[in-house]
Amino acid sequence: MLLHSASQLLTLSGGPQRGFELGWLGIIPDGAVLVRDGLIEATGSSEELRHRYPDEDMLDAGGRVVMPGFVDPHTHLIWSGDRAAEFEMRLEGNTYLEILAAGGGILSTVRNTRQASVASLLAETRSRAWDMLRHGTTTAEAKTGYGLETATELRMLEALLKLDAEGPLELAFTFLGAHAIAPEYKGDPDGYTDVVCGEMLPTVRAWWQEHATGKPLPFVDVFCETGAFNLAQSRRILEKARTLGFPLKIHADEFDNLGGASLAAELGAVSADHLVKTSPADITALGQSSTVAVGLPCTPFGLAEHEYTPARAILQAGGLLALASDLNPGTAWCGDMQLTIALACRYMRLTPAQAIGAATINAAAAIGRADRIGSLEPGKQADLIILSVADYRHLGYRFGMNLVQTVIKRGNVVTFER
Ligand code: NIG
Ligand code: FE
Repeated sequence: MLLHSASQLLTLSGGPQRGFELGWLGIIPDGAVLVRDGLIEATGSSEELRHRYPDEDMLDAGGRVVMPGFVDPHTHLIWSGDRAAEFEMRLEGNTYLEILAAGGGILSTVRNTRQASVASLLAETRSRAWDMLRHGTTTAEAKTGYGLETATELRMLEALLKLDAEGPLELAFTFLGAHAIAPEYKGDPDGYTDVVCGEMLPTVRAWWQEHATGKPLPFVDVFCETGAFNLAQSRRILEKARTLGFPLKIHADEFDNLGGASLAAELGAVSADHLVKTSPADITALGQSSTVAVGLPCTPFGLAEHEYTPARAILQAGGLLALASDLNPGTAWCGDMQLTIALACRYMRLTPAQAIGAATINAAAAIGRADRIGSLEPGKQADLIILSVADYRHLGYRFGMNLVQTVIKRGNVVTFER
């Protein structure tokens, strides 16, 4: 298939973009892409590719922007239950961490998720996955973490593997057994940390090798935060995971600065996420590492808070910056990377071009897949979106309306019948 007549073909070629390299879009005006067997075979001007491939099926982009599908490298897209009442409680003055300390928040979703079968988890999650796809996300990371006990955590992984196999949304998997202190260990975070390290991690590893044959081990993530896991407990969990061969991620500095970002850099984690209260020393450590700094602007927005990830300081330090939605039932019920970009432009002070780089090639790096997705280059997977606009800057400029007109996943045009 030859997709031609893109007003701007955003190739994002050349790999992940560090520091102020961020924002290189590699634009081909009046661009075209040749797709074969689900992969990109060539990019160039429409004239050139029409000449080189005269006999291909043609798809006319009609003078609109064509770019890589969004990669969303941080979501909690699988859960059961509803927390609308907590939104109201927060507006009335209760904080997120107070609600969690009182047994609500994540723990409320845990109670519901423990009751849910794989089939019902799959049904609830599938509609969210299609919504993300409709808004242009072609690959998303998805975390467990609403089980906090081995059996439910494994059911979540099982449902995620099924969802990924169904497609078309492609998933990257993360085990987040350390999302909160399990209710059975209230007041004993070290006891629960022992369970995560001694029981859950080895069990997940063995289960994965049996059920997800051929797939690399999932990421292991920790919520390093006041009221969840302190720095020492986070270190124990991540070091144990690393010993078992898992790649690492961390939730750091969402509400308090505990040093999680420097820990991530030290341990060679693939990403450190949230980074709202991150200290200058932590930013320097990230900038000197290959750990991707992931900003989640829907989260402070969702919590009606006013502090966002200090993106410009991270770029100044030479860091690799990515964006993600954080889709979850507590802080950010939003899986839309277009809104994520709009918020990042305003509150993280990124230009649309920087935000697009952070939501595509750098987001792919944040899940260790920059070699396969996140840009339009020969040999890469043909995951593309056609926007309804002719100028990429409308991403960021506009918000709250879907600018994605067509989604192409692995070379197939996806239609939205569900
Ligand atoms: O990224 N902070 C921890 N995890 C999520 C919230 C999960 C929830 O509230 O259910 C976050 O904000
Ligand atoms: Fe999160």
